[in-house]
Amino acid sequence: MLSPVELASITAPLPEAKTLPPRAYTSAEAFNRELEVIFYKEWVCVAREDQIPNPGDYRSVEIVQQPLIVVRKKDHSVHAMSSICPHRSMQVVADHGNTTNFSCPYHLWKFGLDGALISAPHMDNVENFPPPNCGLKSVKVEIWEGFIFVNLDPDAKPLQERLGKLSEIVSGYRMADLVVAASTEFDCPWNWKILVENFMEAYHHLGPHRESIQPTHHAKDSYVSGSVLDGWSVLHMPEVADKKDDKSGSLPMIEGITEQQQSEILASLIMPTFAWLNSPSVAFWYELKPLAFNEMKLVIHTLLPAAMAQSADGGDIGALVQSTIEQIHLEDIAVNEGPWKGLNAPLTEQGPLSQLEEAIWQMNQWWVKRVHG
Ligand code: FES
Ligand SMILES: [Fe+2]
Repeated sequence: MLSPVELASITAPLPEAKTLPPRAYTSAEAFNRELEVIFYKEWVCVAREDQIPNPGDYRSVEIVQQPLIVVRKKDHSVHAMSSICPHRSMQVVADHGNTTNFSCPYHLWKFGLDGALISAPHMDNVENFPPPNCGLKSVKVEIWEGFIFVNLDPDAKPLQERLGKLSEIVSGYRMADLVVAASTEFDCPWNWKILVENFMEAYHHLGPHRESIQPTHHAKDSYVSGSVLDGWSVLHMPEVADKKDDKSGSLPMIEGITEQQQSEILASLIMPTFAWLNSPSVAFWYELKPLAFNEMKLVIHTLLPAAMAQSADGGDIGALVQSTIEQIHLEDIAVNEGPWKGLNAPLTEQGPLSQLEEAIWQMNQWWVKRVHG
């Protein structure tokens, strides 16, 4: 898909490296390749544990054309499975709720919380029915920091064995103790990588965020840690020194965070699409849902400590914090739409990357390795 010259330019050390070529974003062919080697092979975050707290709680989610159910079983463990009926491929559920079993709306086959077939009307003349494994197909699940990840590849390596260093960096934020306090969905008619790239660099604080974030978190102070091999990056955005004492009107800090964490914001990515922000008092989960090469949905969730979210004014706090992050995203929309148009223009070529865009370089190395083997 990439020429040897393009490959060399992407994999060169950062000072000489170039961005991915436009067609990596604008072609259906590239997206189909991503489906095969990325979205149907890698760990994707689809829900929070706190979204299904009780036995029988379930959510319908989707990884690019694969509808799934994540459900809390009676033993409190989380189970994930295909939502497609093994009879004639109807989607069994598409909503969220609480149930003791799932019933397919087409011919009323019934499945347990673990996906096992419970009953199927008028199938008594069928030889050897039900055959083995005639339930909703299970997929791999892992929980990390309260986030539920699934993987469609039955042979996938465990996620957490490569997250050791990342867990150390973010453990102080105690994300497993946070809950979703507010969520907003945005239609994003552009390629998913544009949003990831925008999310993972603070260089653009100079442009769209010059009045909102740049005064307190200078673009030039940002730096990146991470591991291409392990598939994650962390962008550190330290607070400007003379702003550190002005904490009036801000929310209480998460208990036990380190001194460094008290004065920085982190934007992190577990490749390909699990993106989130940590601030001293709240976290934001950017739930990216790629749909096609030219289309995705983004759901931004505000995550608050459970005690705060459930307090009397928890709803107001959630709404207030959510409106702040929405404002920031509104500033980002123009710099997602712009490059999307630009990447579709016939004269557009690969561009260079600043040292402040190291996380994009990291993501590109990871991407090239998967797409090109
Ligand atoms: S398609 Fe589900 S019961 Fe027939
Ligand atoms: Fe931004």
